Amino acid sequence: MSMLSTPDVLRRTGGKPVKSIVYDQATIAARVEELGAEITRAYPDGELLLLGLLKGSFIFLSDLVRAIERPVQVDFLVASSYGDGNVSSGTVRLVYDPETRLEGKHILLVEDIIDTGKTLKRLMSVLAERSPGSLAICALLDKQLAADVRPEPRFVGFQAPPAFLVGYGLDHAENFRHLPFIADLE
Ligand code: IMP
Ligand code: MG
Repeated sequence: MSMLSTPDVLRRTGGKPVKSIVYDQATIAARVEELGAEITRAYPDGELLLLGLLKGSFIFLSDLVRAIERPVQVDFLVASSYGDGNVSSGTVRLVYDPETRLEGKHILLVEDIIDTGKTLKRLMSVLAERSPGSLAICALLDKQLAADVRPEPRFVGFQAPPAFLVGYGLDHAENFRHLPFIADLE
């Protein structure tokens, strides 16, 4: 039986059925707990700052920090790409810049999904200039495309299928971010 046009799903989407639920709430919750434990083990010493890339990471980040059993700080980044997004030499501008100091801290950049990885790649070089103690990426979903350009995430929730996914922070034209599961919109 399909869950996709149940009253619960349709109430949340405003009547639009989704093709499939790729990761349900329990699956996401279990994996986020594991990621929190991995991160707790990986950073024994020093200050750890989780930087959530807005807007897509907001739900993932809020669950993730509660699964980390060591001191952390939280801030956000808003990035805007300039020029042709297909040109790898393009620049990225920080529309919102973290207020906290990055120098000497372990920085973990938290992203909802890595597709081509181009934005993240540029962001990594911008952040690297601020002399963090370490700099790594945690992505909930990784489509694993374009292995030559993309930065390698240190922590990954799920290897995502090559579909357009929505929910748990991911949007389509700003809709569906609030879904408690991750669905293939079709
Ligand atoms: P990239 O720079 O090509 O890796 O683009 C990553 C960004 O594209 C993510 O932060 C998302 O905002 C968006 N994105 C990529 N794939 C999806 C998807 O399947 N659903 C929703 N947003 C996506
Ligand atoms: Mg988006």
